[in-house]
Amino acid sequence: MKVLILGSGGREHAIAWAVKRSERVTEVVCAPGNGGIAQVARCVPVNLKDVEAMVRLAEAEQPGLTIVGPELPLSLGIVDALQERGLRVFGPTRAAAMLETSKGFAKQFLQRHKIPTGNFAVCSSVAEVEKAIDYFHAPIVVKADGLAAGKGVIICSSRHTAQEAAQGLFSGELLGEAAEQVVIEEFLEGDEVSFLCLSDGANVVPLVPAQDHKRVGEGDTGPNTGGMGVYSTDELLEPGMTEWILKHIAEPTIQGMAEEGTPFAGVLYIGLMMTARGPQVLEFNARFGDPETQALLVRLNSDLVDALEAAIDGRLAQTQLSWNHGASACVIASSGGYPGSYKTGLPILGLGSASQVPGVQVFHSGTTLVGGKLHTAGGRVLGVTAAGDSLKEALARAYQAMAEIHFEGMYYRRDIGHRALKPGN
Ligand code: AMP
Ligand code: GLY
Repeated sequence: MKVLILGSGGREHAIAWAVKRSERVTEVVCAPGNGGIAQVARCVPVNLKDVEAMVRLAEAEQPGLTIVGPELPLSLGIVDALQERGLRVFGPTRAAAMLETSKGFAKQFLQRHKIPTGNFAVCSSVAEVEKAIDYFHAPIVVKADGLAAGKGVIICSSRHTAQEAAQGLFSGELLGEAAEQVVIEEFLEGDEVSFLCLSDGANVVPLVPAQDHKRVGEGDTGPNTGGMGVYSTDELLEPGMTEWILKHIAEPTIQGMAEEGTPFAGVLYIGLMMTARGPQVLEFNARFGDPETQALLVRLNSDLVDALEAAIDGRLAQTQLSWNHGASACVIASSGGYPGSYKTGLPILGLGSASQVPGVQVFHSGTTLVGGKLHTAGGRVLGVTAAGDSLKEALARAYQAMAEIHFEGMYYRRDIGHRALKPGN
């Protein structure tokens, strides 16, 4: 079978790597892909904002399965468009993807279905924010309703600064585009867990849990990024917690979407805060996480293509996934200056020796091939992902491989997994 993957990041590189391991797959095409993906798949250019161009590509390639990586094409309705042409595609429809594309919709949905989440108000004007804000205590979280590539969340230390932030989102001053709705939220405290599951619209199969490190600096300091590293172990959640999250959060979400006439089939990524009053939903994503996927797929023993097809065909009730019980970690190397401005076009050295380290896979994010040589082409450049019997072993392997890699200005956090490794854990 030919598989088409839409996207160009580390997530798509890991998906391409996992799909290639399936005995049923004869060819992997990735659009647009990147320098690293080009080593495992045929890359073809496409604009991920252009639904018609993606449809033309899929019609020309006639893949047996298309997998959509990022949120942007989902938000534009790529799944609906491919389904209309009779093509098999893994991912939610535009209406179901609203769990990610509208934070206001997601919060009101959680409330309608009595699924645990922090207090909130959805506001359509500065005047509404002024009224609502009286009911919140600092710190207050202010979010733009739509997709903002991780930049739409502002944590404010007072009601006054929260009001200013909301004003900045409505005027367009903060994100460049004016928000139509702003969500005000209670600030939740605890450890964050990325809980991903596959759904066929009715049934849910969980993946193993992961923990992301969103801040750029060690000790979780500095601005938010797309994610600087992730680890995954079974111990990330207390015994029984997976079942609790399935029963009280994941299953009611899938059931609620089906009841509302917008069944969700695809990967539901539940961003959880493990608070003193239990797990609370911070956000949903309607896709695989990046870099969570890199760390999850190196632990997956089952055939990924079989699992994704079971989700498309409504067969998840009969599907069980098999995982490696050890641990995995993914450490991201970024361009100096990221998430601010940074240089690109710099040669990357040492990838050959890095991949010699046992258990290691280097998945590329922002890289490109220039005359057969890899150069940097983005903020997050690549991620070193390692599996091991324990988290300590996985991290040691990832950092050993990372020490082999070099490009000018290269930066990575040296404390990925610090919460799990702290004494007492
Ligand atoms: P989101 O895009 O909604 O996941 O927000 C990005 C990040 O902001 C989350 O991963 C959290 O680290 C933080 N965040 C979002 N909402 C809250 C909240 N209500 N309380 C505390 N932190 C939050
Ligand atoms: N790692 C966070 C995300 O994929 O949204």
